Amino acid sequence: MGHGAGKVILFGEHAVVYGEPALAAALSRGARAEATGDAGALTVLPWGTRVTLDEPGEGPAEPASDDRAALLARAYRALVAEYAAAARGVGVRATMEIPGGAGLGGSAALGVAVVRALDEALGLAREPAEVAALSLAWERVFHGNPSGVDSAMAAACGVALFVKGRGLEPVRLARPLHLAVAHSGEYGSTKVTVASVAAQREREPARVGAVLTAIGRLATAARAALEAGRLEELGRLMGENHALLAGLGLSTARLDALCEAALAAGALGAKLTGGGGGGCMIALGRDAAGAEAVCAALRERDPSAFVVEVAT
Ligand code: PMV
Repeated sequence: MGHGAGKVILFGEHAVVYGEPALAAALSRGARAEATGDAGALTVLPWGTRVTLDEPGEGPAEPASDDRAALLARAYRALVAEYAAAARGVGVRATMEIPGGAGLGGSAALGVAVVRALDEALGLAREPAEVAALSLAWERVFHGNPSGVDSAMAAACGVALFVKGRGLEPVRLARPLHLAVAHSGEYGSTKVTVASVAAQREREPARVGAVLTAIGRLATAARAALEAGRLEELGRLMGENHALLAGLGLSTARLDALCEAALAAGALGAKLTGGGGGGCMIALGRDAAGAEAVCAALRERDPSAFVVEVAT
């Protein structure tokens, strides 16, 4: 049984694509996968999607559509191509424990779980960083130009600072964090939002460059606040990060409303997490009880909102 962790980005999404640091926390929820005898097939539950190495979309033209089955088939083919031919004789059955398109790193968690299931079936042993590097072949199909933060976190645990090309640096927290996580109900495509930031950066390099640098500075300041247990400061920095992301058009009215509801319920800070354009937001509680109170308020808008404790 292979596991890949979901993650929340605490600080630095999007700027991380351009080399700025990001802070992320691994979730205990993610994706699980096991090898089966259904050679060359990948089945993903609860979606009930089954794709094979030979279809759909096999041939000179890749499928133009972004539909999930076509993406899964392409990603699985890209991953299996990294292995020796024996991998074609293995089947994989996976189960998602988090939603996709939510900013929780679902596709990376699935990719890492699939790598671990294939590795186990083929008797291969790899370090987490190698698993993450291999699963990038999968993640590129979903994200186009991934920084690698999702894949690295999917193979890891705890909180870490991530810099593209350098990998993860574990961060020790002075105290655990209690976060409420809620979904806007809107599907956010990270591929689309990453492309939108790239287009804005091309049009207005000075403005967008300054925003990305400012986001990187917030991630650095947040790391120090985490290590010292300064939660109020952390909350304030989250609000600043959200405002900068919103300035790049990455928030939505529903994400903003969730953040406002969280702050009204006593959250120390709130922000969108992940690619944006929909998907999830996170809110920092003063403590466990505070996060539960925030979560109760968020459940009025998203009944599936949940609390995670992040500790190292
Ligand atoms: O939406 P998610 O969970 O895949 O988060 C992606 C994070 C980005 O910084 C927006 C993209 C990336 O590749 O780092």
